[in-house]
Amino acid sequence: MKPIKKIAINTGGGDAPGLNAVIRAIVLAALNRGWECIGIREGYNGLLLPHEYPQGGIIPLDRQSVRGITHLGGTILGTTNRGNPLKFPVVGEDRQVQEINRCAELVDLIHAQDVDALIAIGGDGSLGIANALHQHGLRVVGVPKTIDNDLDQTVITFGFDTAVSFATECMDRLHATAAAHRRIMVVEVMGRYAGWIALNAGVSSTADVILIPEIPYDINKVVEKVQERERNGRYFTMVMVAEGAKPIGGDYTYQGDRLGGVGQKVAAALETLTGKQARVVVLGHLLRGGTPTTFDRLLSLRFGAAAVRALEEGQDGVMVALDPPTVRYVPLEQATSRLKTVPLDCDTMLTARDLGICFGD
Ligand code: F6P
Repeated sequence: MKPIKKIAINTGGGDAPGLNAVIRAIVLAALNRGWECIGIREGYNGLLLPHEYPQGGIIPLDRQSVRGITHLGGTILGTTNRGNPLKFPVVGEDRQVQEINRCAELVDLIHAQDVDALIAIGGDGSLGIANALHQHGLRVVGVPKTIDNDLDQTVITFGFDTAVSFATECMDRLHATAAAHRRIMVVEVMGRYAGWIALNAGVSSTADVILIPEIPYDINKVVEKVQERERNGRYFTMVMVAEGAKPIGGDYTYQGDRLGGVGQKVAAALETLTGKQARVVVLGHLLRGGTPTTFDRLLSLRFGAAAVRALEEGQDGVMVALDPPTVRYVPLEQATSRLKTVPLDCDTMLTARDLGICFGD
């Protein structure tokens, strides 16, 4: 395999706290090996839509450009969850939007930058794209990212700990006001297909009810929990809901074409069925912003450095993955073949059940 002289980095999909720490670790580890580094702006758009970047779709990455960014949320490269090169939207001559596969062209555009390999930082969608580019002949290593923690083959993704810590802190604050007003407080968190944030933050913040996508809920079971608490002299109830939670036999809740609003639905039903006041707080994108926790910073730095070591060792088409105490490499194909949802018999679920937390089942 050709020795590496220059690499490209990109960040794709929803941002997660820790992205900048990964970028810094990659750049420093690469420069320390005598490699050059560039960043592609906003997914692959910096190369696929060059006219949108008058200042250039490519950012040269040197020591100065990654100085002081470890603790910053967001990503200095920008990101997007549009512009999938496998289904790239273009307006045809008939003015209709059609989707075309631009993977082969993109690989040529990357190679035209004299780049020997790409480190792609992303979630299941972005890593699936990275795998497609690998199959089109690009040397690729992936770094798993998502606050949802739903990527298979890695024990945890960076961004998750920050999101859970923030959701827990919010629950603690809301607990006090719920108790003061004897209200039901419903807190909606991200988690499209997997309820990891709701489960971990819910258990840590002593939620009374946790509703997750993996367990379709019966609202009457939640009502029973509220009433049981009242009988025990507890006149408020804390409910944590993942945005992807759905009632038994029902579907996801959407606001327009976006997932969201299940918290409002649950709160309205509980007000009607219990006669108590309910309030809803949607944490949404607050979970994606902010300073990464120490855990996430360290994991991000470890992932970034491991991705560079993977390339140096001649790895290709793999994702770095946490397998304590080490970071191992798993084929991208395997890493993206299924989502990691919450196993109903995992230890945190068993703990929650032992603590008497209601899952609406
Ligand atoms: O990062 C994944 C995620 O947080 C999902 O839980 C959520 O549904 C989605 O991103 C929302 O992303 P956006 O609003 O950026 O499309």
